[in-house]
Amino acid sequence: MKDSLLLLSNFIKNPKEVGSVAPSSKFLTKEITKNINFKASKTIVELGPGLGTFTKAILKKSKQGTRLFCFEVNKKFCSHLENNIIDERMVLITAGAEKLSSNLKKFKIKEADCIVSGLPFLNFSEPKKMEILREVKNSLSDNGKFILFQYTNGLGRLLESHFSKVKRRFVPLNVPPSFPSFIYVCEK
Ligand SMILES: C[S@@+](CC[C@H](N)C(=O)[O-])C[C@H]1O[C@@H](n2cnc3c(N)ncnc32)[C@H](O)[C@@H]1O
Repeated sequence: MKDSLLLLSNFIKNPKEVGSVAPSSKFLTKEITKNINFKASKTIVELGPGLGTFTKAILKKSKQGTRLFCFEVNKKFCSHLENNIIDERMVLITAGAEKLSSNLKKFKIKEADCIVSGLPFLNFSEPKKMEILREVKNSLSDNGKFILFQYTNGLGRLLESHFSKVKRRFVPLNVPPSFPSFIYVCEK
């Protein structure tokens, strides 16, 4: 099945969880990945990789020996990632972001250098948002960055209550049918 159809059919089945009818544009991908310090990052986490738009861009820029842990709840997207991204640096975990720290522990990893999220946070309940943000904060190194995007500007306050530094940037150049987005870069 073509990528766009796979995403659309899953969006129709579960719109709140999938959160978007189209993969992120190359503009957004570039804006997200330019915040990652690839030289210094040994452990990168991606939450909600979907069909792997950010995943491929992150792997392209990551050095040898980096590990990219991808947490995805949708089993069809996981199969797609497994079949389409053949790279030993990617570790695919079929589990939710809520299980971030316990899964990293299985790999003897306490902290990630960078956590990138494509999660549709604004569709989540307040307790679920809080749980995921707690997990992210606990799993991020002291100098690490949490980088995420949303289609609206409504997450700033909650992020500020978890992180001491939150930078925002508006990316208007997301090509239809994607939408203009807000990028947040958070530090502990
Ligand atoms: C808007 S899509 C983002 C896809 C991709 N990162 C992109 O930008 O093109 C959101 C993704 O988050 C996944 N997702 C939703 N809830 C999740 C959770 N609790 N943990 C991990 N992934 C989740 C969905 O299955 C979907 O693949």
